[in-house]
Parts: sequence; structure tokens; C-alpha cells
Amino acid sequence: MNAVTRFYENHPINEQQILDKLAAEGIPPEKITPQDLSRFDQDHYGGLDATDRLAETLDIAPGMTVLDVCSGMGGTSRYLAYRYGANVVGMDLTESRVEGARSLTEIVGMQDSVRYVVGDASDMQLDPDSFDRLVSQEAFLHIPNREPLFACSYRVLKRGGGIGFTDWIAKDGLSVNARQRFADGFAARDIASLEQYRNLVTKAGFVDVAATDLSVEWREILGQRLEMYRSLEAETIAQFGQERFNGFVDSYVFFIEQIDAGTLVT
Ligand SMILES: C[S@@+](CC[C@H](N)C(=O)[O-])C[C@H]1O[C@@H](n2cnc3c(N)ncnc32)[C@H](O)[C@@H]1O
Repeated sequence: MNAVTRFYENHPINEQQILDKLAAEGIPPEKITPQDLSRFDQDHYGGLDATDRLAETLDIAPGMTVLDVCSGMGGTSRYLAYRYGANVVGMDLTESRVEGARSLTEIVGMQDSVRYVVGDASDMQLDPDSFDRLVSQEAFLHIPNREPLFACSYRVLKRGGGIGFTDWIAKDGLSVNARQRFADGFAARDIASLEQYRNLVTKAGFVDVAATDLSVEWREILGQRLEMYRSLEAETIAQFGQERFNGFVDSYVFFIEQIDAGTLVT
């Protein structure tokens, strides 16, 4: 198990925690809808609004084939299927995330429009020219070898296809120390600058490249997410121990401090 899969095997948000939350609201598994899951299964900033923005930017339309790279618990994949009518494949490196995504998808009966594969985004074992769109939310920071990541992305997309992703962006002043803290606390293995990203995607062959800084509008959300993680104290300690809980919350506080200092944008 590498640092990334270890991080996600011990993550405060997981399939069981989502089902427990719904059970606490009085919703048993057989009554859960995709919309119920969507309130808890989005492991990225901005939740469904952020996914809508990506989907609208990419003009995702009914019947399109979409690859959701680093799909986690499958929240984005399911949403693109039920809201936009896409046929989605979610890919993730962490086996328990893929198992959780499959199980949640079956619970809501969406297995015909969404399926998941275990795989490394920088070495995709998928057919070339097979997707209309590729999306990824809040995950590329875990992937140090980005040239193969974008080369694979380009290869699996059909001609005229499109890619859209959200990620952390390093600004001047992001120190070596801060990068190390993010590596230790979040398994963030590389945080690229906007210029590095532009070079990477254009080198892979993508054209019409655009970027939007969402830090200001997402700053409030980050504070809310920190409070949500703090509210999971008892469950997180019971599942993974006090040290894991403290480490996660401390890292999150540090992350928000870096956003406020302007050394990191999202
Ligand atoms: C913050 S989660 C985001 C999950 C999902 N995109 C979402 O927004 O709900 C990051 C995910 O990236 C996955 N991941 C990290 N490195 C990966 C890689 N090289 N290939 C595929 N998945 C990877 C992790 O296992 C984790 O599930």
C-alpha cells in the first residue's frame, strides 16, 4: 500500500460513514436515492455546484461517455449519470474506494449507467478513443507523474473530446516545508503551478486551455468542511484512532492557512 492508498483506506469520509449518516436520518439502505447519497458522497470542495460547473464547461450531454478519473466513492460519477444522462466509468487507485463506489451505486440501482475500475490514472489500461469527456475532481495532487497522466487522458478521449479537472494550484511562496506537510498530512505528492499545468496539458495535445480560480468562493466551504471533519471526531477516533483524527484536522487547518496566505489556490 502506498501513501495515497493508505490515506484513503483511513479516511474520515467513507461508505460506512455515509450509510450511518443516512440511517441516523431514518433512511434504510433500500430507500436511499442517488440524491440522498449526493449530500454525503462528494469528496471535493464545492460539492454538486462544482460538478455542475465542470459539466457545463464541458457540455456534458445525455448519452455521452465520461471517464471520472480518481472517482473515490463515486459521487461525481453517479451525479453525472443521473443529472446529465452520461454513461460513466469511474477509475480509482484505492480498492476499498472502488468497492465502496460499486456498493453505493448498486444500492441506488445505477449499475447500468455507472461502473468502476481499479486503476492508476498515470497508467490507464483503457481503450483509446473511448470517451467523450474526462473529468477529475480534487485528486491530481496525489499523482506525481503528470506527463503520463495527461498523455493517457488524451489517448482515451475521442477526437474532439474534452477534459476538465479541479485541483490545488501552487503560488509563489509555497514553501518546501509546506509541501512536505501536505505530503505527510494529505498524501499530496505534487502541487503544480498554473504555468506547469498549462505546459503539461498543451504538451499532451490539448488545445483551448482555460483555468478559473475558485479559492475565494470556496474559502467558506473549506471552513464548513473543517467543521464537518471536526464533527466526525467520535466516529473517526473509533475507526482510525486519536492520532489519525488529530493529524487530519491539523493538516486541514494548515491547508486553510495556506489558502488565506495566498500560497495555494483551488
Ligand atoms: C479527494 S478524493 C476525490 C474523489 C472524487 N473525485 C470526489 O470528488 O468525490 C481523491 C481520490 O483520488 C484517488 N487517487 C489518488 N491517486 C490516484 C491514481 N494515481 N490513480 C487513480 N486514483 C487515484 C484516491 O484513491 C482518492 O479516491
